[in-house]
Amino acid sequence: MLAEVAPEASRRAPHAAAKATAHRLSEVEAHTTVSLPVALGEFARVLGGGIVPGSVVLIGGDPGIGKSTLLLQVGLALAEERRVLYVSAEEAERQVKARALRLVPAGQAPSELYLLSETDLEAILEQIDQLGPDLAIVDSIQAVSLRELEGGAGTITQVRECAARLVAAAKASGSAVFLVGHVTKEGAIAGPRVLEHMVDSVLYLEGDQFHAYRLLRAVKNRFGATSEVGVFEMRTTGLAEVPNPSEVFLAERAVNAPGSAVAVTIQGARPLLVEVQGLSSPSSFGHPRRTANGVDLNRLLLTVAVLQRRVGLPLADQDVFVNVVGGLRIDEPGVDLAVAAALASSARDRVIAADIALIGEIGLSGEVRSVPQLEVRLKEAGRLGFRRVIVPWTLGGEVQVPAGVTLLPAHTLREALTLLELTAGARSTPEG
Ligand code: TYD
Ligand code: MG
Repeated sequence: MLAEVAPEASRRAPHAAAKATAHRLSEVEAHTTVSLPVALGEFARVLGGGIVPGSVVLIGGDPGIGKSTLLLQVGLALAEERRVLYVSAEEAERQVKARALRLVPAGQAPSELYLLSETDLEAILEQIDQLGPDLAIVDSIQAVSLRELEGGAGTITQVRECAARLVAAAKASGSAVFLVGHVTKEGAIAGPRVLEHMVDSVLYLEGDQFHAYRLLRAVKNRFGATSEVGVFEMRTTGLAEVPNPSEVFLAERAVNAPGSAVAVTIQGARPLLVEVQGLSSPSSFGHPRRTANGVDLNRLLLTVAVLQRRVGLPLADQDVFVNVVGGLRIDEPGVDLAVAAALASSARDRVIAADIALIGEIGLSGEVRSVPQLEVRLKEAGRLGFRRVIVPWTLGGEVQVPAGVTLLPAHTLREALTLLELTAGARSTPEG
């Protein structure tokens, strides 16, 4: 009976492989990875350990944020031991070389790094085929094109088809391929949504142009956790790892200044302390402005509304500004409480004690809601010398409190602000 079924099945799918063999789970080989030098440990960690042969990774980010710099560094480091092809479709080989020489300490380029300045994808594929690199970097996917297709480089059709060919080449050759994708104004890599499902991993390099710090996040990762985040600093010699980001982000904190609060957030799998600054000032126009730098504007609007309605803070005729110091973007609701406290501190012109950090999401009724990974956050706050942490009343599970740290639980935003002596009538005490 089976013999009768088989020919029919193969007639229906003429291109299917002649025979497919299933393997026991124990017989399937796990992924091997090419480990990266320690100097790029942050990058390797975000990738999930190293570079998987034959894998395709998309690295997205705003123009000018440092994608080419990061990948050239990765290429330079890997080329000490492996063959790397860096395809620049946007810059001439001489430009890339000039940059590369700034990035290597001794100014010595490794011999196994190949540069190719080319936009024609056929030519690029041919070079990958000929050189057989362990890693091919294509910078950027929006600048390469196939002559046979209509429309210039950067159109959805070109981006999608070129990526598909590179994915096929990676799978066939075993060369890992890194694709650079610029994020366009709409916030997507031109056709990035079309690319995200085609590749194995998607990393985004974030930060703001006027600050040196960069966050590398994995938003998709077939070979590791998607929650990993790497922190880098842009220097004149390229991107450098930041091993203790919380310390760096708090280094310039304005202690004893109204409008400053410290939030303990979770970025990926790691806790990160950041200073949140709030400022309210009388609005000179009929329509007061709300400006959010580094936090979600909708969450700021909600927080301002709760401060007005549930706490009675008069913000209706005030312009409101919130800023996360260091140029980071924190989309996590766990910073709500710090945002509210920074604004209340500014509006009341009273300082938040320097040894207090805040953790908590704010709900519409003004309640302080529990957040994930409280214990990890408390540990980091304790490590950085914070003695008191305002937390949600319902801790969200059993929590071990680090030695020397006192929890100040709050049911509501009003309670939290009372603990901070920021409610109307409370006395100001800069040091607690
Ligand atoms: P780049 O990697 O070209 O950005 P992208 O490829 O994402 O468009 O980075 C550009 C910026 O980085 C540019 O403003 C100069 C700065 N930079 C440094 O500060 N230090 C360096 O060592 C390098 C190579 C660049
Ligand atoms: Mg670039």
